Amino acid sequence: MKIIGFIASPRKEGNTAWILNKILEGAKEHGAETQSWYFSDLDIEPCRGCFGCKQSAPRCIINDDMQKLYEAVEHTDALVLGSPVYMGQMSAQSKIFTDRLFARFSPRFSPYFKEENAAKKKLILVFNQGNPDSSMFQLYFDYTKRMFQLLEFDVKGIHIVAGMRNGPAHERKDLQSVMKNIGSSLVSKRFHE
Ligand SMILES: Cc1cc2nc3c(=O)[nH]c(=O)nc-3n(C[C@H](O)[C@H](O)[C@H](O)COP(=O)(O)O)c2cc1C
Repeated sequence: MKIIGFIASPRKEGNTAWILNKILEGAKEHGAETQSWYFSDLDIEPCRGCFGCKQSAPRCIINDDMQKLYEAVEHTDALVLGSPVYMGQMSAQSKIFTDRLFARFSPRFSPYFKEENAAKKKLILVFNQGNPDSSMFQLYFDYTKRMFQLLEFDVKGIHIVAGMRNGPAHERKDLQSVMKNIGSSLVSKRFHE
């Protein structure tokens, strides 16, 4: 089983990276093959809105690192998207990635897109925020879950890690086992039902 994590933070050694890597560690310890993608290392342009993916071109015409991510998404069993909360929303890096998934949504996006597989892509969203109130942005998280469902992902959950302004994630004694347990749950039979 393959599980990939997207670290949509500009800080390569920040909270998002630590949280995502703990989740992947938990999955790996339970037999998954895992891979992390750091958006801070990737060159991904915003969508140009050219509609090429819906018209003449069979794929997104922008030749950047997003092409690697299209491939990665198609060849994984589950995805974990980790983002810091910026101004009550996902980071700009996450938004650019999400907009570029528009191309994957295209029926013309062969050979990557397969209608019969699309609904089976499992996704969990993991947000972390400075504010200690994890319900602060609940409306936005619910909305985001719905948006990914419309993009034909099987959204299996949203996890919110709050209170990051009280210290970095790696200093939070409670977090390590919680994140690893999320990771191990991704490998469970129940998750894939
Ligand atoms: C530009 C910016 C905007 C932010 N906006 C919010 C916010 O609206 N609500 C919140 O609780 N935390 C906010 N934060 C705090 C981050 O979500 C928090 O520090 C997070 O852990 C950063 O993740 P990172 O270490 O991967 O960069 C913001 C941080 C930055 C830099």
